[in-house]
Amino acid sequence: MSHSFDPIDNTSNNEHFQEVLDNALSSPSRRSILRGGLGLASMFALPMLPGCGGSSAASNTLPALASSTLLKFTPVAKSIADQVWVPAGYTAKVLHATGDTIKTGVAAYSNAGTDDAESWANRVGDQHDGTEIFYIGSNGKSKGSYSYASGDKAVLAVNNESSAEAHLLHPTGQTSGAAIGKKFDQFGSWPLGVRPASESIKEILSHGVTLVEVNLDASGKPTGYNATSSLNRRITPETPMNVTGPAAELANLKAMMVTKFDPTGATTRGTLNNCGTGITPWGTLITCEENWATYFTMPAGSTVPTDAKLIASRARYGVQTTATSATATTSRTQGWHTVTDADPTSRFARWNVSASGASAAADFRNEPQTFGYNVEIDPANPSSVPAKRMSMGRFAHEAAVCGVPVIGKPLAFYMGCDSRNEYIYKFVSTKTWDAADIGGGIAAGDKYLCEGKLYVAKFDATGKGEWLELSINNPLIKAASFGFTSQAEVLVHTRVAADAAGATKMDRPEWGAVNHANGEIYFALTNNNASNRTPAKTDAANPRAYKDNDGLGRDGNPNGHIIRFKETNNMAEATTFTWDIFLFGAEEDAAAANVNISGLTAANSFSSPDGLWFSKSTGICWIQTDDGAFTDETNCMLVAAVPGTVGDGGAFTVSNTMTVANVATTMTQNTFVGGILGESRLRRFLVGPKGAEVTGITETADGKAIFVGIQHPAEEATAYNDVSKGVWPTNASNGVGGVYGAGSRARSATIVITKDDGGKIGL
Ligand code: FEO
Ligand code: CA
Ligand code: CA
Ligand code: CA
Repeated sequence: MSHSFDPIDNTSNNEHFQEVLDNALSSPSRRSILRGGLGLASMFALPMLPGCGGSSAASNTLPALASSTLLKFTPVAKSIADQVWVPAGYTAKVLHATGDTIKTGVAAYSNAGTDDAESWANRVGDQHDGTEIFYIGSNGKSKGSYSYASGDKAVLAVNNESSAEAHLLHPTGQTSGAAIGKKFDQFGSWPLGVRPASESIKEILSHGVTLVEVNLDASGKPTGYNATSSLNRRITPETPMNVTGPAAELANLKAMMVTKFDPTGATTRGTLNNCGTGITPWGTLITCEENWATYFTMPAGSTVPTDAKLIASRARYGVQTTATSATATTSRTQGWHTVTDADPTSRFARWNVSASGASAAADFRNEPQTFGYNVEIDPANPSSVPAKRMSMGRFAHEAAVCGVPVIGKPLAFYMGCDSRNEYIYKFVSTKTWDAADIGGGIAAGDKYLCEGKLYVAKFDATGKGEWLELSINNPLIKAASFGFTSQAEVLVHTRVAADAAGATKMDRPEWGAVNHANGEIYFALTNNNASNRTPAKTDAANPRAYKDNDGLGRDGNPNGHIIRFKETNNMAEATTFTWDIFLFGAEEDAAAANVNISGLTAANSFSSPDGLWFSKSTGICWIQTDDGAFTDETNCMLVAAVPGTVGDGGAFTVSNTMTVANVATTMTQNTFVGGILGESRLRRFLVGPKGAEVTGITETADGKAIFVGIQHPAEEATAYNDVSKGVWPTNASNGVGGVYGAGSRARSATIVITKDDGGKIGL
């Protein structure tokens, strides 16, 4: 998502770990609880690094890590040009961009806002994000990724996250009442007024997922996409989906999904704000619903639902809880509900989530409860009905990464919830993995993704962590003031349950990724702001709070970090793990000692890690950024890293000092850091165009091509015709193979990167 979006904060009373320690010091009774048999002093002694067995003395010299795998490409320099840069010897080409046609008979994209509104159901959606590739065998079934034989077809799935640049979809920008030509910020405030139906339809249909068949040459190299393939498909906010969950809870779940669209609650309509993705071992796509909460509204004068749980949950998720005031001139939604809705399907009325009808079956008060899930899609079967996988919990889902599957063992999916101070989750299947399910589509998903356990992560100060089960039988959840009465309520109001369980507040968990070589899990913690990450609110797993004195001055943990963990005994179903911090984002010239801990240089400095993914072919850990702190010096980027293992670095003391509003606070954290990678193991591979976030990445089975998403180029433009903030990829000098389409409006796109000598990417 756009870095300029201001995510809501977790305002629960869950303590930052430092607050736990502060309270332990100030309260004798709590101290005795926390001490256990160890004694308080041991909590402050620097703990031993797991697996080290050596001295527990603090060390502020991290080892320079060596590796047999070294990156071979020339690092790409920082850039603020309106261009995609890749290393010498590599070529990047646009595969598809916003609005491209995916069906016979659909007119070529005008890129002037003149396209038929309903045609967007058959165009590449907007705001390219999470990306997965699927190979379809001669039997018509998905083989999953990374398994290619001559004759296979390939389907590329790309999430279309938002309508953040929707002013480019209309002839003269967005319209709301009298306001014309302006760019509305979907996450900011809109001028109140009636939205035109045609604009709203385009904006709605530009969301969701785009699946297209990729043309392959005889060697399996991508040469473009097939605009008329029968495998092409758009999933939009209007695509019907099935409600799924644990068999024993399905009736309870359906009761919470009842709307005028389906009074039985068995189905819901569409998917929204699709950010990261996941690929299942059986070869289906998981698309993750992130910032869905801001799409719904209750207009002035409307009736607020009286269900106390519904309202309490809305508050925790950032959905409107009171009607817009009568004197308001702005509204924090898309305004789609304002379209006069003569349509019996209520495609516009559904965005008004007040109690406008006699019951939940007569209005859309429950509509927000139908979003916030992982959605499973079978890329091999365009007529299959997607499934909302409610057993995996409801939050601002960022991505869903499956751990390394082991035959005969449960499967684990790791998931981040992206807002400030939110949590990291894990779903563990009840059923154990059987490779005979590859190609099993949604039916296989029903087997693995309905019955299982949902957990949330707690990181402690000793380099260990715990998975807290989100179960109605967890005494802390049972005792929560929310009044949980069923597991279905835990699955739908997951954030509330995680608060009660005692999860660790993190610096905005973005994507997770699995190191296929050793099963370790990585998570991007993109950043946090000054009020939420003060020195006093740091902890071992989120250890930095600092003032960014260079350039854009975003304080707190503005550059973010990447945490990683290893499950105990490498078991998917483990309830404990060990962790360390793989990398800290930083500007290479950061002066304070608590900032550039990972020793970044001009060849690899980065800020605000977001997308995260490991190549199965090369083992490289690819890091994508969505930044607003370093953008005075460089656009967002793609960085290649050669991973090590949890515990390969050392113990590290972070001394935080931050002065905000003339109040200086200091705090020291003892944490664990994965050593200094150096330029041979950490290099900037790509820098994107102006305003763009680099999102979504996958590879061909041979590792010789990668697909990368370029989202919201020209984001800083405030009007449809403001070309000063960027026009990529329509500019001739864009470095992606010349002019792409007519006109001068920026478009999100997926690019394909190959190495000119035909080798693997990054090596
Ligand atoms: Fe869609 Fe949290 O980025
Ligand atoms: Ca800066
Ligand atoms: Ca600098
Ligand atoms: Ca993201």
